[in-house]
Amino acid sequence: MLLAVLVLMQFYRPKKNSSQGDHSAVFLAETNPSKEVMEVFTQTCYNCHSNNTNYPWYNNVAPISFWLARDIKQGKVALNFSEWAGYSPKMKDRKLVTIKQTVDSKKMPLQSYLWAHRRFRLSQSERQAIIAWADQTSVFYQLNRRPE
Ligand code: HEC
Repeated sequence: MLLAVLVLMQFYRPKKNSSQGDHSAVFLAETNPSKEVMEVFTQTCYNCHSNNTNYPWYNNVAPISFWLARDIKQGKVALNFSEWAGYSPKMKDRKLVTIKQTVDSKKMPLQSYLWAHRRFRLSQSERQAIIAWADQTSVFYQLNRRPE
């Protein structure tokens, strides 16, 4: 019975989170992360926090595909780098603070995926670079203007 359910499940594919082109151009231009920080964002965080996910092979297997779709949906509500242009300066500042906190406390990237993705694990140096970037960028938003 369980097997039948598992087999049937394979026919249901959650809609994919995918976008063409420069979906996060505003975020990158405005916050100007270093190459190191940018790579963490684009290769790791964007999978759940942007309009484009780079799907792992196991997304072809239900129910993992459902869990991932749920995490992406919730992740995008919490923070979406592709929607950066739509956030107010105050909101951007708040997002930077939560990025800093979640990276510092190792709450992000989401623990449940680290077993499958060694490269999702952040090094101490990546963590520090993100925190420094968040502090620096946050100052500009507190002044209510774009960083230059
Ligand atoms: C596999 C999916 C996934 C990845 C990868 C991921 N996140 Fe998240 N993130 C989530 C989900 C789901 C939530 C919302 C639920 C929660 O707070 O646990 C979230 C919430 C957040 C929040 C909001 C927390 C709050 O308290 O409001 C921030 C900030 C965040 N993530 C930053 C990041 C950063 C930075 C990275 C990359 C280093 C990252 N996330 C990678 C899934 C992910």
